[in-house]
Amino acid sequence: MSSIIRPMEQNDAESCGKIGYQAHKNISSAHGYPSEQPSEEFAIGLIRQLLSNPNSRGVLAERQGKVLGSIFLHKFPPSPVAVIGPLTVHPSAEGGGVGRILMDAAITQARKQNHDQIRLVQSPSHIRSFVLYTKCGFSLREPLFLMQGQPLRVRNNHTSSANVRPVRHDNDISLCNKLCKSAYGFSREMELRQAFNQGVATIIERDDGVIAGYAAGIGIFGHAVAKSNEDLKALIANASAILGPGFFAPARNYEVVKWLLENGFQIGWPANLMTIGPYQEPLMPILPSLAY
Ligand SMILES: CC(C)(COP(=O)(O)OP(=O)(O)OC[C@H]1O[C@@H](n2cnc3c(N)ncnc32)[C@H](O)[C@@H]1OP(=O)(O)O)[C@@H](O)C(=O)NCCC(=O)NCCS
Repeated sequence: MSSIIRPMEQNDAESCGKIGYQAHKNISSAHGYPSEQPSEEFAIGLIRQLLSNPNSRGVLAERQGKVLGSIFLHKFPPSPVAVIGPLTVHPSAEGGGVGRILMDAAITQARKQNHDQIRLVQSPSHIRSFVLYTKCGFSLREPLFLMQGQPLRVRNNHTSSANVRPVRHDNDISLCNKLCKSAYGFSREMELRQAFNQGVATIIERDDGVIAGYAAGIGIFGHAVAKSNEDLKALIANASAILGPGFFAPARNYEVVKWLLENGFQIGWPANLMTIGPYQEPLMPILPSLAY
């Protein structure tokens, strides 16, 4: 009996969330990492939240009315990148090709929406997903670490450095967009605006008025771009909160990872940025988000 794929609806949130929780629990407990989806409530809430986002689309696989797994595709206009995740398949259905069917559905949808760049953040402890993504055409671009700890500013009782301040207005946003374009080749304006609306976007403006970096929040859904590692460190050091379970740092940025470890941050879990389609390696130091 073959599986069918259909769009996910709000009343599927519970079954899909439970599968997400179970699938992540199995894999994280096998490797001794904390689970990315720590409780059923978290997992169901995550699905509900994604389903209410007009830029995210979920589909599920089911057989004889029983849900086997689900996947989301996200867009971040005007960024040309489409992002896949979370993908979860019930442990009892693993190995039956359900993951592949869901991936094919998400990739087909991205192509229909004219996205030639598709990205995802993979959990490398799970060889299954690495194999699946590789077979679907994704290549590994950047190993990451989720860095966890208390914000340095709070820990050291520091006030914000003179050069790091909140993003205040549209002009700041367009200057950040310009910096992002020089690093990535495109802006991440939607995510920056979301962080701005939440009051967590920060910018470094040097004394001569040059914009040297910005952070769309320091956290798992935030990203940051900076002209130098010193600027990136300043953005991290001046964050008044770490949003969510931590933030991703590129593992190959030795200087920043070493500095974070020396400043009391711990590595929570590893991850891999994987991509299909054109990819420009960022031309400046960055912190990626859970999306890309
Ligand atoms: C990752 C996940 C979605 C895969 O679902 P699935 O239905 O088992 O995936 P599929 O069977 O379609 O594909 C897995 C592929 O890996 C292959 N594979 C698994 N382990 C392998 C190994 N060690 N070496 C080589 N190939 C391997 C399988 O043979 C299969 O390929 P095939 O279909 O060509 O034979 C599912 O295991 C899951 O939900 N895991 C927990 C959550 C998770 O990690 N999600 C991804 C986060 S990045």
